[in-house]
Amino acid sequence: MSSSPIIELIREKLDIVEVVREYVPALRRAGRNYKANCPFHNEKTPSFTVNPDKKIFFCFGCSTGGDIFKFVMDIEGLTFPEAARKLAAKAGVEYGDERAHAITPEDRERLELKKMLTAAAAFYHKALFSPDGEKARLYLGERRLSKATVERFELGWAPANGTALMEELKARGWSRDLAVKAGLVTEREGGRVGDTFRGRIMFPIRNQSGDTIAFGGRVLDPEGIPKYLNSPETPLFSKRRTLYGLHEALPQIRRTGRLLLLEGYMDVIGAHQHGVDWAVAPLGTNVTAEHSAVVSRYAKDTVVMFDDDRAGIQASVKAANVFMETGLYVRLASLTGGLDPDEFLNEYGREEFEKKLSEAADPLDFQLKLLFRDPKNPPTSQDKAKAIADLLDTVAKQSDEVLKSEWIKNLAAHFRVDQASVLKELRKAALALPREKARVQPDPAKGIPQLERDFLQTLLHYPALLDQAGALEPEDFSDQLARKIFLALKELPQELRGKAAPALAERFPEESALILGLAVADFNAEVSSAQGAASEIRKLRRKSLQRRARELKGLPTMSPQQLQEYSRLMSELKSSAQDL
Ligand code: UTP
Ligand code: MN
Repeated sequence: MSSSPIIELIREKLDIVEVVREYVPALRRAGRNYKANCPFHNEKTPSFTVNPDKKIFFCFGCSTGGDIFKFVMDIEGLTFPEAARKLAAKAGVEYGDERAHAITPEDRERLELKKMLTAAAAFYHKALFSPDGEKARLYLGERRLSKATVERFELGWAPANGTALMEELKARGWSRDLAVKAGLVTEREGGRVGDTFRGRIMFPIRNQSGDTIAFGGRVLDPEGIPKYLNSPETPLFSKRRTLYGLHEALPQIRRTGRLLLLEGYMDVIGAHQHGVDWAVAPLGTNVTAEHSAVVSRYAKDTVVMFDDDRAGIQASVKAANVFMETGLYVRLASLTGGLDPDEFLNEYGREEFEKKLSEAADPLDFQLKLLFRDPKNPPTSQDKAKAIADLLDTVAKQSDEVLKSEWIKNLAAHFRVDQASVLKELRKAALALPREKARVQPDPAKGIPQLERDFLQTLLHYPALLDQAGALEPEDFSDQLARKIFLALKELPQELRGKAAPALAERFPEESALILGLAVADFNAEVSSAQGAASEIRKLRRKSLQRRARELKGLPTMSPQQLQEYSRLMSELKSSAQDL
């Protein structure tokens, strides 16, 4: 939580619930909080929580949390100054020159990386229209891309000489290290460095805000390997959560709540050129739960259409399953004649293509249609059982229970078997499903004794009670972390008390999950009163006295001072027992 008067003003003016809801339309009131499925990880029951009073958000599933600025940074992949500028505009606050505001070193680096990637995209684009780019221009022409499309997606050409971009970046004052970090320059064997992309058609990969964050490069030479080369993972780019074309498709996706998933760069570009402007693609055919979480922010309905080949069809079924698991509705479409969407559009045009989309089937029907298509080769009972087992993988991933039971009925009817045995097999399939547990973080507050945890929570909710807690010392907490947080709370300047949770989360980034988690969690209202707090303070104090007494008693011998301390402890314990 960077603080400057302008940042404070923005925070005050904006309603965090409204801002979050723009990205998470499903946000619903739950007590004093708002809840929804988390936009940052894949889940079926809401653990993403927004607290309007404290102006913070926190997900109990993945521990992402913070204030309104952090939310926009995380969800849009922005640096702090970029998020602040965006929110300033929303709040109607004059933001001015960002150099006047504090920027962390990481943010500074990310901003610099973005500038470098933007410059690289411009460089490649210019090279495409230079004499050196002639072959590439001819190729794009053969693929029937218009000049306007090439401009819109800022396609480019990476010269083959292997150092052109590196020299350009150097001339513009960027260090080699930063160019390596951006994934634009690569260290090769023998310590030599050179351009990552050489002799390739360049596809800038943008985030949803339209900033270039990476590149895909396609070979011209049909023998070239790999056909597509993607930037490595960088501080700006994570392949697992990026969808090509999302920035361009977002207006239409937002309008209709529908998203079309195609297989490759060229398919997305071709689709947009033909007016099918809700198409995006993963980078490579692997669709992840992270992709699904991104899609869920903007769309409810999806259509998946991959290439009309064996690999494409298998991959599209897998993608559909991942989408369904997040509660998205999916239909699967396919083309005929072994064509890619891009080739089909060029051959038959938009109308025929949209006809294929409208014939998209639900994932179960899609798979049923693929089965046993050869009339000369009717399936045996074993074939059928095996097919049912495969299909149940899809059924088990359906989040919508109504649809799921519909599917079970259809499956039983299709194979003329009874529903009970299908259900029984379904249970086995569901058990065998790998669960996405790994991403859920352990409860960070787990190690703290209940009493200490409750008290910290009380203070985070009612910082005014800190005045009463004056008698408590950090040592009265047995847990190190609890001590640290208590001390920080005590030392919090009066004017920050109203936003104790975000202020502390910012000061202790490692403990921010614990602090925000305690701050947004529902808790026992009894302790919220002054009386309740007083009783908690007494209990804490007693526990602490008992701890110290035990420690002293455990010593082989006590010094006279220790003996004195021990008897003082015992008498304080005795008198405080009457107050309980
Ligand atoms: P395809 O091989 O189907 O490419 O890979 P494509 O889209 O039909 O490409 P064109 O039409 O021949 O130009 C589909 C997607 O898989 C990823 C790319 O994202 C590509 O668009 N891919 C493919 C890679 O990342 N690396 C590869 O080597 C190949
Ligand atoms: Mn293709």
